[in-house]
Amino acid sequence: MADLAVAADLSRDDIDVTAVLDHLVADAAATAPTAIGYPGAVDLDHSAVIARLGHRLWNNIGDPADTGGVAHTRVLEQAVVAWMADLFGIPAGDRWGYVTTGGTEGNLSALAAAYRRWPTARIYYSTAAHYSIPKIVDLLGAYKTVVRAHPDGEMDYDHLAAQLRKRRRWPAIVVATAGTTMTEAVDDVTRIRAILTHYAMVGHLHVDAALSGIPLALDGKLRCDDVGIDSIAVSGHKFLGVPTPCGVVLIRDHVRNPARQPIAYTAAADTTVTGSRCGLAAALLWHAIAVHGREGHRWRAAEARTVAAYAVDRIRATGWQAWRYPHAFTVVLPTPPETVRVKWLLATDGPASHLICMPGITTAQIDALTADLTAAIRTPIPHPRTPHTPEADG
Ligand SMILES: Cc1ncc(COP(=O)(O)O)c(C=O)c1O
Repeated sequence: MADLAVAADLSRDDIDVTAVLDHLVADAAATAPTAIGYPGAVDLDHSAVIARLGHRLWNNIGDPADTGGVAHTRVLEQAVVAWMADLFGIPAGDRWGYVTTGGTEGNLSALAAAYRRWPTARIYYSTAAHYSIPKIVDLLGAYKTVVRAHPDGEMDYDHLAAQLRKRRRWPAIVVATAGTTMTEAVDDVTRIRAILTHYAMVGHLHVDAALSGIPLALDGKLRCDDVGIDSIAVSGHKFLGVPTPCGVVLIRDHVRNPARQPIAYTAAADTTVTGSRCGLAAALLWHAIAVHGREGHRWRAAEARTVAAYAVDRIRATGWQAWRYPHAFTVVLPTPPETVRVKWLLATDGPASHLICMPGITTAQIDALTADLTAAIRTPIPHPRTPHTPEADG
């Protein structure tokens, strides 16, 4: 099909629905072998859930603790929230959460709860924070304070301390990132908490852990009880590779203000950002966790890191630079020649690009990438030619 947009145009009266769907699938399959710039795991098989549940609506409308409504998966959602809360060490008597549409909604739900509790707070986040954070601060109408990040993506704690000190009359809502978008840096929540304690500041500590939260927690490297993290948000379509955007937000129950009226016609409490919520996403998350368990997921993370370490070695062997944090799936490199960047869908921010060795990315893909890189580096860049003019010929 030459032009998908033309074929899919709903004003046509000769739409070939099967051909349009086949085209979408073929396009996605064609790019899959070189799609290593964005963080979706590709090693898990979710087809059992799609086959069994994909033919009808599963709507977890309202609070995950409600049980009203006809077809919903709230029991599975509650199991997912409990598993995540255990993983992140949120005390059993002080936890609440739900399955969101993704990391962004998780950040919004948590920061809205924090801001309801501390309406005069300043919200602090670093220049490496995900773009959803400044957007959410704007939506809330809150005051923001942007903290410098180091070039490797980690927050500059001295700058945070200086910014907090200047504003210590107001409560502080601090957003740390566990896995920044470009380098997968992890802000040190212990240091952030120590700075807040040093200035005796009240407020809220939120962790945007969209990418790295689950793999770090599986290794015991991110726990909410150790340092008093008040809320955390993860994505479900990243490490768990769920084939629809989703996520989980966890908030300590005592910091929320759940005094929302039950909605009569839904027979559910309106505690979530959206009303209707995707029950299929909750079932997909539950399935991914149930089938592999903690050990299985820890193994997946370790394997992916091994491939990432291999990628660093192989890229360096071409003469190009590359680095990664020891915990990271992300490999950072100076932006390579255009042909490589475009073919391998590398995420790029000016002079730096990255690839992400999510579970399912293979060493064969890395070998193919480095072969392309080697060829591109060896190809001389053509010099722009001086335009030929009769005057120049004299
Ligand atoms: C650090 C971070 N936070 C939040 C998000 C947003 O997550 P989502 O796309 O699931 O809304 C991302 C996604 O890339 C991210 O990397």
